[in-house]
Amino acid sequence: MSARGPLWTCEKCGRTFANRNQSHACGRHRLEAHFEGRPPEVRTLFDAFLAALQENGPVTVLPQKTRIAFHVRMSFAQVTPRRGGLDGHLVLARRVEDPRFLEVRTFSPRNHLHRFRIAKAEEIDARMRAWMREAYAVGEKIFFFRGGPHDFACATCHGEDGKRIRLQDLPNLSSKAGAQKGYTTWPAYRVSQGELRTFQWRLNDCFRQQRFPELDFTSPASVALTTFLAYNANGAAFDAPSIKR
Ligand code: HEC
Repeated sequence: MSARGPLWTCEKCGRTFANRNQSHACGRHRLEAHFEGRPPEVRTLFDAFLAALQENGPVTVLPQKTRIAFHVRMSFAQVTPRRGGLDGHLVLARRVEDPRFLEVRTFSPRNHLHRFRIAKAEEIDARMRAWMREAYAVGEKIFFFRGGPHDFACATCHGEDGKRIRLQDLPNLSSKAGAQKGYTTWPAYRVSQGELRTFQWRLNDCFRQQRFPELDFTSPASVALTTFLAYNANGAAFDAPSIKR
Protein backbone atom coordinates (compact mmCIF):
# COMPACT_ATOMS: atom_id res chain seq x y z
CA MET A 1 0.00 0.00 0.00
CA SER A 2 1.32 3.45 -0.85
CA ALA A 3 1.96 5.65 2.15
CA ARG A 4 1.51 8.84 0.16
CA GLY A 5 -1.96 9.79 -0.93
CA PRO A 6 -2.73 12.92 -2.93
CA LEU A 7 -2.29 16.22 -1.11
CA TRP A 8 -5.35 17.89 0.32
CA THR A 9 -5.77 21.57 -0.59
CA CYS A 10 -7.56 23.83 1.87
CA GLU A 11 -10.28 25.63 -0.07
CA LYS A 12 -9.95 28.76 2.03
CA CYS A 13 -6.23 29.50 2.02
CA GLY A 14 -4.93 27.25 -0.77
CA ARG A 15 -2.29 25.57 1.38
CA THR A 16 -1.68 21.87 0.72
CA PHE A 17 -1.40 19.20 3.40
CA ALA A 18 -0.79 15.49 3.55
CA ASN A 19 -3.83 14.96 5.75
CA ARG A 20 -7.34 15.80 4.74
CA ASN A 21 -8.88 18.57 6.89
CA GLN A 22 -5.55 19.19 8.58
CA SER A 23 -6.10 21.93 11.18
CA HIS A 24 -3.97 25.01 10.53
CA ALA A 25 -3.92 28.78 10.98
CA CYS A 26 -5.75 29.37 7.72
CA GLY A 27 -6.38 33.01 6.88
CA ARG A 28 -3.47 34.27 8.94
CA HIS A 29 -0.99 35.74 6.51
CA ARG A 30 2.47 37.07 7.09
CA LEU A 31 3.33 40.63 6.18
CA GLU A 32 6.74 39.53 4.86
CA ALA A 33 5.14 37.18 2.34
CA HIS A 34 3.77 40.19 0.47
CA PHE A 35 7.27 41.43 -0.25
CA GLU A 36 8.92 38.18 -1.27
CA GLY A 37 10.20 38.45 -4.85
CA ARG A 38 9.59 42.23 -4.92
CA PRO A 39 12.33 44.86 -5.11
CA PRO A 40 13.35 46.25 -1.67
CA GLU A 41 12.15 49.72 -2.75
CA VAL A 42 8.57 48.42 -2.54
CA ARG A 43 9.06 47.61 1.14
CA THR A 44 10.56 51.06 1.73
CA LEU A 45 7.53 52.56 -0.01
CA PHE A 46 5.17 50.49 2.14
CA ASP A 47 6.94 51.62 5.32
CA ALA A 48 6.64 55.26 4.20
CA PHE A 49 2.91 54.77 3.50
CA LEU A 50 2.34 53.17 6.92
CA ALA A 51 4.36 55.89 8.69
CA ALA A 52 2.20 58.55 6.99
CA LEU A 53 -0.98 56.78 8.14
CA GLN A 54 0.37 56.49 11.69
CA GLU A 55 0.86 60.25 11.88
CA ASN A 56 -2.90 60.32 12.55
CA GLY A 57 -2.92 57.74 15.37
CA PRO A 58 -2.56 53.99 15.92
CA VAL A 59 -3.37 51.71 12.98
CA THR A 60 -3.79 47.94 12.95
CA VAL A 61 -2.03 46.31 9.99
CA LEU A 62 -3.84 43.20 8.79
CA PRO A 63 -2.00 41.19 6.15
CA GLN A 64 -4.50 39.20 4.06
CA LYS A 65 -3.96 36.86 1.18
CA THR A 66 -3.70 39.35 -1.69
CA ARG A 67 -3.60 42.69 0.13
CA ILE A 68 -2.68 44.43 3.36
CA ALA A 69 -5.56 46.20 5.09
CA PHE A 70 -5.32 49.05 7.60
CA HIS A 71 -7.89 49.23 10.37
CA VAL A 72 -9.00 51.72 12.98
CA ARG A 73 -12.38 50.35 14.02
CA MET A 74 -13.01 49.40 10.37
CA SER A 75 -10.93 49.01 7.27
CA PHE A 76 -10.23 52.46 5.82
CA ALA A 77 -7.30 51.78 3.50
CA GLN A 78 -5.45 48.92 1.94
CA VAL A 79 -2.53 48.23 -0.38
CA THR A 80 -1.21 45.39 -2.49
CA PRO A 81 2.57 45.47 -3.07
CA ARG A 82 3.45 45.01 -6.76
CA ARG A 83 6.80 44.97 -8.55
CA GLY A 84 6.49 48.64 -9.45
CA GLY A 85 4.97 50.04 -6.25
CA LEU A 86 1.74 49.90 -4.24
CA ASP A 87 -1.78 49.51 -5.59
CA GLY A 88 -4.41 50.43 -3.05
CA HIS A 89 -7.42 52.43 -2.00
CA LEU A 90 -8.58 54.87 0.63
CA VAL A 91 -12.18 55.05 1.85
CA LEU A 92 -13.34 58.66 2.07
CA ALA A 93 -16.62 60.21 3.21
CA ARG A 94 -16.87 62.30 0.01
CA ARG A 95 -15.95 61.87 -3.66
CA VAL A 96 -12.62 63.42 -4.54
CA GLU A 97 -12.06 63.98 -8.23
CA ASP A 98 -8.34 64.02 -8.81
CA PRO A 99 -6.12 62.53 -11.52
CA ARG A 100 -4.25 60.61 -8.78
CA PHE A 101 -7.31 58.47 -8.19
CA LEU A 102 -7.62 55.95 -11.00
CA GLU A 103 -11.20 55.13 -10.02
CA VAL A 104 -13.80 56.23 -7.45
CA ARG A 105 -16.48 53.74 -6.46
CA THR A 106 -19.45 54.92 -4.41
CA PHE A 107 -21.03 52.49 -1.95
CA SER A 108 -23.18 54.93 0.00
CA PRO A 109 -23.33 58.72 0.41
CA ARG A 110 -20.50 58.69 2.98
CA ASN A 111 -18.53 55.71 1.70
CA HIS A 112 -16.45 56.19 -1.44
CA LEU A 113 -13.55 53.98 -2.40
CA HIS A 114 -10.67 55.81 -4.09
CA ARG A 115 -8.22 53.62 -5.96
CA PHE A 116 -4.61 54.75 -6.38
CA ARG A 117 -1.20 53.53 -7.47
CA ILE A 118 1.99 54.94 -6.01
CA ALA A 119 5.47 54.20 -7.31
CA LYS A 120 7.66 56.63 -5.35
CA ALA A 121 7.77 57.83 -1.74
CA GLU A 122 7.59 61.46 -3.01
CA GLU A 123 3.99 60.74 -4.05
CA ILE A 124 3.06 60.43 -0.35
CA ASP A 125 3.06 64.22 -0.21
CA ALA A 126 0.95 66.77 1.69
CA ARG A 127 -2.09 66.22 -0.53
CA MET A 128 -1.96 62.43 -0.19
CA ARG A 129 -1.43 62.78 3.57
CA ALA A 130 -4.51 65.00 3.88
CA TRP A 131 -6.60 62.29 2.16
CA MET A 132 -5.05 59.67 4.45
CA ARG A 133 -6.12 61.76 7.45
CA GLU A 134 -9.68 61.90 6.10
CA ALA A 135 -9.76 58.15 5.53
CA TYR A 136 -8.57 57.49 9.09
CA ALA A 137 -11.47 59.53 10.45
CA VAL A 138 -13.95 57.39 8.45
CA GLY A 139 -12.49 54.33 10.16
CA GLU A 140 -13.11 55.80 13.59
CA LYS A 141 -16.77 56.51 12.89
CA ILE A 142 -18.61 53.24 13.23
CA PHE A 143 -18.52 53.08 17.05
CA PHE A 144 -19.63 56.72 17.26
CA PHE A 145 -22.19 56.60 14.43
CA ARG A 146 -25.59 57.76 15.73
CA GLY A 147 -28.87 56.84 14.14
CA GLY A 148 -32.17 55.00 14.52
CA PRO A 149 -35.33 56.17 16.33
CA HIS A 150 -33.39 57.07 19.52
CA ASP A 151 -30.35 58.55 17.77
CA PHE A 152 -28.10 56.09 19.65
CA ALA A 153 -24.52 55.13 18.90
CA CYS A 154 -22.56 52.36 20.64
CA ALA A 155 -20.84 55.28 22.36
CA THR A 156 -24.16 56.54 23.82
CA CYS A 157 -24.24 53.55 26.15
CA HIS A 158 -20.57 52.51 26.12
CA GLY A 159 -18.59 55.74 25.73
CA GLU A 160 -18.27 56.89 29.35
CA ASP A 161 -17.45 55.40 32.74
CA GLY A 162 -20.13 54.81 35.34
CA LYS A 163 -23.18 54.49 33.08
CA ARG A 164 -25.87 51.98 33.76
CA ILE A 165 -29.31 50.83 32.67
CA ARG A 166 -31.39 49.80 35.65
CA LEU A 167 -29.00 47.59 37.66
CA GLN A 168 -26.84 46.77 34.66
CA ASP A 169 -23.41 48.42 34.62
CA LEU A 170 -22.39 49.43 31.11
CA PRO A 171 -18.72 48.90 30.31
CA ASN A 172 -16.99 51.94 28.78
CA LEU A 173 -15.73 50.17 25.65
CA SER A 174 -13.74 53.17 24.49
CA SER A 175 -11.47 52.79 27.55
CA LYS A 176 -8.87 50.07 27.83
CA ALA A 177 -10.25 48.59 31.08
CA GLY A 178 -13.83 48.54 29.76
CA ALA A 179 -12.90 46.99 26.43
CA GLN A 180 -10.77 44.38 28.18
CA LYS A 181 -13.70 43.40 30.37
CA GLY A 182 -16.22 43.40 27.53
CA TYR A 183 -14.12 41.70 24.89
CA THR A 184 -12.20 38.96 26.69
CA THR A 185 -15.18 37.36 28.42
CA TRP A 186 -17.06 36.11 25.33
CA PRO A 187 -18.26 33.52 24.42
CA ALA A 188 -20.22 33.26 27.66
CA TYR A 189 -22.86 31.04 29.16
CA ARG A 190 -25.91 33.22 29.85
CA VAL A 191 -27.50 31.79 32.96
CA SER A 192 -30.72 33.78 32.38
CA GLN A 193 -31.06 32.28 28.90
CA GLY A 194 -29.59 28.85 29.54
CA GLU A 195 -27.44 29.19 26.39
CA LEU A 196 -23.84 29.69 25.39
CA ARG A 197 -23.65 32.96 23.44
CA THR A 198 -20.97 34.27 21.09
CA PHE A 199 -19.48 37.73 20.74
CA GLN A 200 -21.36 38.19 17.45
CA TRP A 201 -24.56 37.43 19.32
CA ARG A 202 -23.62 40.07 21.92
CA LEU A 203 -23.07 42.67 19.18
CA ASN A 204 -26.35 41.81 17.51
CA ASP A 205 -28.23 42.14 20.79
CA CYS A 206 -26.72 45.62 21.18
CA PHE A 207 -27.76 46.47 17.61
CA ARG A 208 -31.26 45.52 18.72
CA GLN A 209 -31.03 47.74 21.83
CA GLN A 210 -29.78 50.52 19.58
CA ARG A 211 -32.81 49.91 17.30
CA PHE A 212 -30.47 49.31 14.37
CA PRO A 213 -31.23 46.77 11.64
CA GLU A 214 -30.22 43.21 12.45
CA LEU A 215 -26.48 42.65 12.24
CA ASP A 216 -25.39 40.28 9.48
CA PHE A 217 -23.26 37.69 11.23
CA THR A 218 -19.61 37.82 10.06
CA SER A 219 -20.38 40.92 7.93
CA PRO A 220 -17.60 43.53 7.46
CA ALA A 221 -19.34 45.81 10.01
CA SER A 222 -19.39 43.05 12.65
CA VAL A 223 -15.73 42.22 11.99
CA ALA A 224 -14.79 45.92 12.08
CA LEU A 225 -16.51 46.42 15.43
CA THR A 226 -14.95 43.27 16.84
CA THR A 227 -11.53 44.43 15.58
CA PHE A 228 -12.07 47.84 17.16
CA LEU A 229 -12.97 46.32 20.53
CA ALA A 230 -10.14 43.76 20.32
CA TYR A 231 -7.75 46.61 19.55
CA ASN A 232 -8.95 48.66 22.52
CA ALA A 233 -8.59 45.54 24.70
CA ASN A 234 -4.97 44.94 23.64
CA GLY A 235 -2.78 43.46 26.36
CA ALA A 236 -5.49 41.72 28.40
CA ALA A 237 -5.55 37.99 29.06
CA PHE A 238 -8.37 36.08 27.39
CA ASP A 239 -10.89 34.90 29.96
CA ALA A 240 -13.54 32.95 28.04
CA PRO A 241 -15.73 31.03 28.12
CA SER A 242 -17.25 32.87 31.06
CA ILE A 243 -20.55 32.87 32.90
CA LYS A 244 -22.86 35.88 32.77
CA ARG A 245 -26.18 36.40 34.42
C1 HEC B 1 -29.12 51.32 24.55
C2 HEC B 1 -27.85 51.06 25.15
C3 HEC B 1 -26.84 50.24 24.36
C4 HEC B 1 -26.33 50.50 23.11
C5 HEC B 1 -26.70 51.63 22.19
C6 HEC B 1 -25.31 49.50 22.89
N1 HEC B 1 -25.24 48.65 23.95
FE1 HEC B 1 -23.83 47.20 24.23
N2 HEC B 1 -24.69 46.71 26.04
C7 HEC B 1 -25.81 47.31 26.56
C8 HEC B 1 -26.21 46.60 27.76
C9 HEC B 1 -27.41 46.94 28.64
C10 HEC B 1 -25.27 45.55 27.95
C11 HEC B 1 -25.26 44.51 29.04
C12 HEC B 1 -26.28 43.51 28.62
C13 HEC B 1 -26.43 42.33 29.49
O1 HEC B 1 -25.47 41.94 30.16
O2 HEC B 1 -27.52 41.78 29.44
C14 HEC B 1 -24.33 45.66 26.84
C15 HEC B 1 -23.23 44.82 26.66
C16 HEC B 1 -22.30 44.94 25.65
C17 HEC B 1 -21.11 44.13 25.53
C18 HEC B 1 -20.67 43.04 26.51
C19 HEC B 1 -20.00 43.63 27.71
C20 HEC B 1 -19.62 42.59 28.74
O3 HEC B 1 -18.93 42.97 29.71
O4 HEC B 1 -20.00 41.43 28.59
C21 HEC B 1 -20.48 44.52 24.40
C22 HEC B 1 -19.17 44.00 23.86
C23 HEC B 1 -21.29 45.56 23.79
N3 HEC B 1 -22.37 45.80 24.58
C24 HEC B 1 -20.98 46.20 22.58
C25 HEC B 1 -21.80 47.16 21.99
C26 HEC B 1 -21.54 47.72 20.68
C27 HEC B 1 -20.34 47.38 19.80
C28 HEC B 1 -22.55 48.60 20.41
C29 HEC B 1 -22.79 49.38 19.13
C30 HEC B 1 -23.10 48.58 17.98
C31 HEC B 1 -23.43 48.59 21.58
N4 HEC B 1 -22.95 47.69 22.50
C32 HEC B 1 -24.56 49.41 21.72
C33 HEC B 1 -26.42 48.45 26.08
C34 HEC B 1 -26.17 49.06 24.87
